[in-house]
Amino acid sequence: MSKKIEHVMVIGAGQMGAGIAQVAAMNGYTVTLHDTKMELAEKGIAGIKKRLERDVAKERLSESDLARFLRLIQPSDQIGNAEHADLIIEAAVENMAIKKNIFAQLDSFAPKHAVLATNTSSLPITELAAATSRPEKVIGMHFMNPVPVMKLVEVIRGLQTSDAAFKAVEAVAKAMKKTPVEVNDFPGFVSNRILMPMINEAIFTVYEGVSTPEDIDNVMKLGMNHPMGPLTLADFIGLDTCLYIMEVLHEGFGDDKYRPCPLLRKYVNAGWLGKKTGRGFYVYD
Ligand code: CAA
Repeated sequence: MSKKIEHVMVIGAGQMGAGIAQVAAMNGYTVTLHDTKMELAEKGIAGIKKRLERDVAKERLSESDLARFLRLIQPSDQIGNAEHADLIIEAAVENMAIKKNIFAQLDSFAPKHAVLATNTSSLPITELAAATSRPEKVIGMHFMNPVPVMKLVEVIRGLQTSDAAFKAVEAVAKAMKKTPVEVNDFPGFVSNRILMPMINEAIFTVYEGVSTPEDIDNVMKLGMNHPMGPLTLADFIGLDTCLYIMEVLHEGFGDDKYRPCPLLRKYVNAGWLGKKTGRGFYVYD
């Protein structure tokens, strides 16, 4: 663990993975952005370029910095590229079987000193770690969406995570100009254990006809100073993700207070997943 972290590989070039790659490159790390197909990795990089070009247009980033950041990010469709990485941050789909498969492969390709982190929002780090031969170097590194804007990173210790791995990841989060928070591995960690029951309760409030989505959001925006109301935020996160996390909490704690609202389940079954499908609690063009 004494080797300094210089090369970060990000697995998954979706919204979270591309955001993490962008922030890593902007803070001087060499980055490999990996996905299952080269087009997907390149699409992730194209999204980063578009966001940075907006910053150039707003005159808060120079053309030369933009070019420098982009030069630091290489696309990949070969998981074997993990052999160059000091830290790997997995941001693939929230599916335990898929993540275990990725971690088993990373374990065989990544150098011995490399730390394997996951951006999971709710899956158990301890179980994922057990799919590798280096559970002491497996850790949660949970970024918030949108990654370039949000300051928090939950750094989650699995049962066997070493202090050295924790310190290394904490230092990377700080170098990325984020605020790391130390969390132990329990369902939903801290962020989603608190956020999701609030969102679920807002959905129950719609379900029971207490008020409209607009007014419920206004209560929390204007009354509690939240930047987005809980139903807008649910649409932004994805209703499928919200349901999934509520199920993890419900199963993990076995307590009825985490029961997903039937209306949430109904919307997900209808394919109303929020902003990404054009409809959730609101309609998007
Ligand atoms: N990428 C990069 N920058 C972005 C962005 C994105 N996807 N979205 C917005 N921004 C930037 C904008 O460029 C803008 O910057 P400037 O003002 O400097 O130009 C700034 O953020 C503000 O954007 P807007 O004025 O368009 O809108 P806003 O004031 O409503 O801010 C927001 C947008 C930052 C997303 C704000 O609404 C917010 O904080 N919402 C809550 C976000 C939140 O709770 N995230 C956590 C979700 S839960 C999660 O991620 C974890 C999980 O496990 C589910």
